[in-house]
Amino acid sequence: MKFSPTLGLLALVSGASSLTVTTNVDQLRSKQNTTVVPNTFIVELQPDFHPELQPKDRFAKTKPGAKPNWRVRHQYNDTDIFYGVSVSFDSPVDLATLRTSAGVKNAWSVAVVPRPELRGLWGVPDFNRGGTKLPDYRGSSDVNRPLDMGNVQKLHDKGIKGKGVQVALIDSGIDYTHPALGGGFGRGHKVALGYDFVGDAYDGSNDPQPDGDPLATCADGGHGTHTAGIVAMQDPKKQGFGLVGVAPEATLAAYRVFGCEGGATNDILIAAMVQAWRDGADIVSMSLGLWQAWEEINPFEDVVNKLTSHGVAVVASIGNFGTAGPYSSSTPAISLSALSVGSIESDIYPTAWTAHDDQQRAINYINVFPATELGRVEVVQLGYGLDVPITPNITSGCDQDAWDALSNAQLNWNTTILQVSWESWCGTAWGPAVDLGVKALLVTMSEAQDILVDEPGSEPAALYLDIDNSKLLLSRLAKQPAGKKYALTFDGTKAVAVANPYGSAPDYFSSFGPTIEMTLEPKISAPGGTILSTFPVDAGGYAVLSGTSMSAPFVSGSLALLKSQNPRLTVPQLFARLMTTARPVNELNSKLTASVARQGAGIIDAYAAVTADTVISPAEFSLRDSASPAPQKITISNQSRSRKRYSLQHVPGTFYRLSNNYLSDIKDNFSSANLPLTLDIPASAQFSQSLVNLGPGQSVTIEVQIKPQPDMYPFANPVYSGFIKITADDDDEYSVPYLGVPYNRTEVGPIVHNVTTVKPYDSPGVLKAQATDLFLADALTPTPNLETYNWTTDLDKAYIPVFRIDTIMTRFLRLELVPANVSFVPSMYGFDPDVHIDYKFPDQPILPGFLGVPTYGLVLAESIEPQPEGSPIIQSTDIGHFLGLALLDPSLTNDKGDKFRIAAGDYRVLFRTLRWRGNETNPDDYESWLGPVMRFDIPSDLPPDFPNSSE
Ligand SMILES: *[C@@H]1O[C@H](CO)[C@@H](O)[C@H](O)[C@H]1NC(C)=O
Ligand SMILES: *[C@@H]1O[C@H](CO)[C@@H](O)[C@H](O)[C@H]1NC(C)=O
Ligand SMILES: *[C@@H]1O[C@H](CO)[C@@H](O)[C@H](O)[C@H]1NC(C)=O
Ligand SMILES: *[C@@H]1O[C@H](CO)[C@@H](O)[C@H](O)[C@H]1NC(C)=O
Ligand SMILES: *[C@@H]1O[C@H](CO)[C@@H](O)[C@H](O)[C@H]1NC(C)=O
Repeated sequence: MKFSPTLGLLALVSGASSLTVTTNVDQLRSKQNTTVVPNTFIVELQPDFHPELQPKDRFAKTKPGAKPNWRVRHQYNDTDIFYGVSVSFDSPVDLATLRTSAGVKNAWSVAVVPRPELRGLWGVPDFNRGGTKLPDYRGSSDVNRPLDMGNVQKLHDKGIKGKGVQVALIDSGIDYTHPALGGGFGRGHKVALGYDFVGDAYDGSNDPQPDGDPLATCADGGHGTHTAGIVAMQDPKKQGFGLVGVAPEATLAAYRVFGCEGGATNDILIAAMVQAWRDGADIVSMSLGLWQAWEEINPFEDVVNKLTSHGVAVVASIGNFGTAGPYSSSTPAISLSALSVGSIESDIYPTAWTAHDDQQRAINYINVFPATELGRVEVVQLGYGLDVPITPNITSGCDQDAWDALSNAQLNWNTTILQVSWESWCGTAWGPAVDLGVKALLVTMSEAQDILVDEPGSEPAALYLDIDNSKLLLSRLAKQPAGKKYALTFDGTKAVAVANPYGSAPDYFSSFGPTIEMTLEPKISAPGGTILSTFPVDAGGYAVLSGTSMSAPFVSGSLALLKSQNPRLTVPQLFARLMTTARPVNELNSKLTASVARQGAGIIDAYAAVTADTVISPAEFSLRDSASPAPQKITISNQSRSRKRYSLQHVPGTFYRLSNNYLSDIKDNFSSANLPLTLDIPASAQFSQSLVNLGPGQSVTIEVQIKPQPDMYPFANPVYSGFIKITADDDDEYSVPYLGVPYNRTEVGPIVHNVTTVKPYDSPGVLKAQATDLFLADALTPTPNLETYNWTTDLDKAYIPVFRIDTIMTRFLRLELVPANVSFVPSMYGFDPDVHIDYKFPDQPILPGFLGVPTYGLVLAESIEPQPEGSPIIQSTDIGHFLGLALLDPSLTNDKGDKFRIAAGDYRVLFRTLRWRGNETNPDDYESWLGPVMRFDIPSDLPPDFPNSSE
């Protein structure tokens, strides 16, 4: 499983109460995956700046445009949507300077948006089933179950299929030769319009090779073919699975921005959005994103706003970083006027197939395609040849003896399949099977598991059994007389379904809201986990994928259905209809309604959205940061032809905390592994009126007072949420989601303090660690006010400082060493300022410091903003930031990024971090901590490449 820890950027958490410390800044830097293209920017130009000129010539009139040697990558010349250029300079250019130049409205770094993962592409056949006609797999499986989950089927039954609505997909291209996608391209075809901005070979770092044809046939480019199918596929008779998309009569426009591998730069995405508008799109569907919960660095905001005001709806995936907990959402999804979409797991595994044993008893296995090529094979359990009873611990693959015994058994893998088991404590440890020549694995499970395998087309093929079929197979194997082999014939070629125990719950991978400004995200959810859809013909024609990439096109298709019936509604009105008619779902295996931060308004209900005859406004409340949020107003309008009575109810959602190590009652539990913490701490709500009676055309406004429960742990980043549910007497249900943070963020500074962080050490602080043992749990507590540290090439004898500081919600921080007698008054002292110390001043030049504070140099600086090449500031968008940084090499950097060794003597550490919404140039907007004296013993002959040269 791919895992993206937010919290582990600067420190690796390794089990309870120990923290491995990062040792130097260069190492931190290399850990970052730089997505920023150096010296390359998107520049939005002022509309009244040389209006007679084209964008390129206008840019040349700006001050940065007067520099030599830049080239234009894209010109955006639509004054209605976006006017500007993307440019690449040969020499360093500062983004802040660019932003403030005359003629420039705004500017952003060009960044690479990573390629959306093909998550859970199980069992693409390792042979080519290509050709113009696909096999007929139609069986008893209800492959279109997601259409029922989103209540789309009832609209199809009425003939509402999205006719006349144009959906633009900005993705990896489409294999429109697929029979379910119309078989061709151009006017009159399902894929009627489009453009290839990049070409097959583009990977986000090389030059794109655009052309007019968005065809993508490579398997790795199959993402766009899958999302296109979700919107509008229609399998022909006697081919495929009988799949139908959400809006099979909608017109598709395909804008290809990803090649066959790698990412795409955001300047190309903006060009594609503008092109989609020019081509007449009603809906722009973007199953892609870059994890950026900070609104201020979102380059898509203006474009999305403009498209919206011109009637073009932008729908985007919220992202696949759910394991990181709240604040893990992506751009462009968080753009204020976009509809961001989370993912709900499918109720069924749509593609299971039947194998029969010699008594004709069935076993159903899960795979995209039937494994008929196996024919009749004998089932051998991992552990065969070991002289012990076979248990799940042996079949798990984590027992090497079992593999050794199997190797000695000399089996013929052409006629044998290996049964292994998938145990949560062991994982998929079946690597040794490859060396043994095993062709296929039959994977059983001992508990209900989420069946999602990351590696596509893996060898050997893994055929999964759900829990019921696992029990069946294992009991039959156990009953098999000694010496007699149990065989299965893989003869079934018609799809059957097996139930998905994770069905209808939010997917674990689906990113959480809110944004940093606490705007409610995602807005809505849709089926996105375990979704069968079209795939390039040469790669089998179909794939089962999981991701918010799959849920966004489901919403785009639903929106097409709604728009086809309500062509005059504005984009915000359409979105509000979808949100107020969505159905909130519960957490997995829980009676608690899932947090709005996870599901938004709930799972989409397309039929309810189309047939709604009550309008609820607004469709959501972002209550921001307060222990007692202001009262809100909800207006209910009865737009039906009959009198209706409505009742209001409050439905709380689960409460989340992003981290649990700041809670006084869990002092020694330092863990970010199982985040977020899901808690039952419900908010309450009062209504000015909870029953209303409205005649046709009447409306009423009701005051709602929501009250969160107080949370004593603001540093744990709590988020509360819930729904105002409005039920009409004809049983129509509506709801309005709300979300907030139950404390005042202005009052809670960014530096975590007065709470236990890692037992027994508090943040902020300096610890003393042996240079060869950088586990925090092993570090020493320095004496107050003054402690000595020493460096030596015998690392065992070196005792060095470790800076231990946690922060929340800061977009800029600086850690530097300053003169011991500095007169700066910090927000917090890490020593007793009344204690007199005879300082030993180092023979070390004092530099003019940041905001006037003298300094010896920088240990670490971080900003959420991309930085120019050579800057000592690291880009980081971490939210819950755990810093454990050891000064293994006694060197600092200046503001130009030059590194230098420091001399022996007394230093203090000064940590400054910008308060939430603070201004970087205002000293009052920082929270700061000044540490105790550190007396450094640094031998003058310490080698320049220390610690690499140490013994
Ligand atoms: C914008 O640029 C494109 C491509 O160069 C050109 O076809 C189009 O006419 C231009 N539009 C305007 C409004 O200048
Ligand atoms: C960084 O991103 C690129 C492009 O998405 C990817 O190929 C590479 O593996 C990533 N590197 C790391 C260290 O994550
Ligand atoms: C199986 O392995 C797990 C993890 O190593 C262990 O906790 C458990 O006790 C083992 N069970 C048996 C029956 O050996
Ligand atoms: C297994 O099948 C392959 C390909 O058909 C063949 O080359 C090989 O000899 C077979 N192995 C055995 C042990 O029968
Ligand atoms: C939060 O606290 C600040 C400073 O005390 C105050 O100005 C602001 O109004 C408070 N915000 C809310 C929503 O209560």
